[in-house]
Amino acid sequence: MTPPLPAAPVIKTVYIETVGCQMNVLDSELVIGALKRDGYTLTDNSAVADLMLFNTCSVREHAEDKTFSALGRVAPYKLANPDKVIGVIGCMAQKDGDAIRERAPYVDLVVGTGQLAKIPELVQIIRETRAPQLAVSLGRKDADRQRVELSFESYDPTRDPEMRSTPFQAYVRIQIGCDKFCTYCVVPSTRGPEQSRHPDSILNEVRILVDQGCKEVTLIGQTVNSYAYDHGDGRRTRFSDLILRIHDVGGLRRIKFVTNFPKDMTNDLLDAVRDLPKLVKYLHVPLQSGCDDVLGRMKRLYTIGDYWEMLHRSRERIPGVAVSSDFIVGFCGESDASFQKSMDIVDRAKFKNSFIFKYSERPGTKAMERYPDDVPDGVKKQRNHDLLMLQNERSLEDSRSMIGKAVEVLVEGPSRQGAKSAPGGIRQLIGRTMTDHIAVFDGPDRLVGEILTVDIAEASGFTLYGAARTGEVLGGVGAAPAARLPRRMGLSLV
Ligand code: 5AD
Ligand code: SF4
Repeated sequence: MTPPLPAAPVIKTVYIETVGCQMNVLDSELVIGALKRDGYTLTDNSAVADLMLFNTCSVREHAEDKTFSALGRVAPYKLANPDKVIGVIGCMAQKDGDAIRERAPYVDLVVGTGQLAKIPELVQIIRETRAPQLAVSLGRKDADRQRVELSFESYDPTRDPEMRSTPFQAYVRIQIGCDKFCTYCVVPSTRGPEQSRHPDSILNEVRILVDQGCKEVTLIGQTVNSYAYDHGDGRRTRFSDLILRIHDVGGLRRIKFVTNFPKDMTNDLLDAVRDLPKLVKYLHVPLQSGCDDVLGRMKRLYTIGDYWEMLHRSRERIPGVAVSSDFIVGFCGESDASFQKSMDIVDRAKFKNSFIFKYSERPGTKAMERYPDDVPDGVKKQRNHDLLMLQNERSLEDSRSMIGKAVEVLVEGPSRQGAKSAPGGIRQLIGRTMTDHIAVFDGPDRLVGEILTVDIAEASGFTLYGAARTGEVLGGVGAAPAARLPRRMGLSLV
């Protein structure tokens, strides 16, 4: 009798959509890495996927609306094929797991930011039982701090370089959660208590990444510069100590970090940024408002005077450093006069760029409890526009100040325009400078992943245009294998 043919391997496919910040981008990378080890392949076609995941953000209402409309879009696939699994993961899942299932009952899986490691196992249970699964961490007031901390697991498993948009750049989480409790912000609830990772495990991850060909790591944390690890025996690793250790990793070329809290910008950190050659000379330090009264209601824990002091000190200690900021416009009680103070500071602070957001009232925050959301949406829009226009003028001045300079660029891939030309020839490439400016120049694809010098000849608001000194790289690169070009499948930042 002929033996039965071996069963064809079951290929399961997963589709993922990611909304939000770098934390979410990294979480999606890690979740997909784990699912791949479980036999899944990634698809960018939601219609055919066996598993559809939505990694969500709750920072603004708009981000949540996007997720609900995406869920509405894929609902018919689930109705047509009940075997498909739909999962909502991340911040919205942690914050309002039950509400999601009420609004979208066809969602099978709800997993909060602190439980992502459970996804492969839970998906398996759903496949076998069709029973919906929910895994969220404790709320901040559900238990004592230690138990709440434990319920938010640090999720940093082995990485899958295939998932990153480029193989030579990676995010590394050094801290989870946030303890600042700015009154407008949901993050302390959605990502739990602030916890710093053990420096050895961070180092280990960086070494593995470098072995895989990574040249640049971006250290991420909600308030990354408040990183501190207490070893329990009196020893303490500060952020600057951690950076120094990471700097020693051979083969690593660049280190960035985001996002900073103004009050925690200590001199030891600034000096490390100045002295360590691999450290990018760029600080993202959100100010949020130019008015002390508004900052007080936001509970940002600093005044405008403190921020100016920090800004001057940073520029004094790190010559040429680029600084960028975030602003919220239309926060509760923001009068015309208080908004004008945000305009004044953008006018004078010489930020490289600023991210500007309309205030969005978030359930569960102190601001919603304490203050009416009293700035009409039309006024928020106008203020957003005015502040952005002013920042754009300042950004243009900042970019123009780079004309004539020779800058060091890590080449990330073809620019949007370059991507329209066929690979292989000379086309427009894009990269970032040591001050986080975007630079474009012409060159062959084999420069992707290289660090080279670009002479800047032109500048628009957010882009520097120049010519690459390819001679210094081309000699060595001719024989090198062609760099893998960026692939962004499945990680669209919606
Ligand atoms: N509304 C608008 N913007 C917000 N941010 C955080 N919470 C809110 C909110 N409720 C902004 C802050 C923060 C950035 C990541 O998002 O500017 O720095
Ligand atoms: Fe939110 Fe403030 Fe923490 Fe940033 S520092 S995540 S704005 S609470």
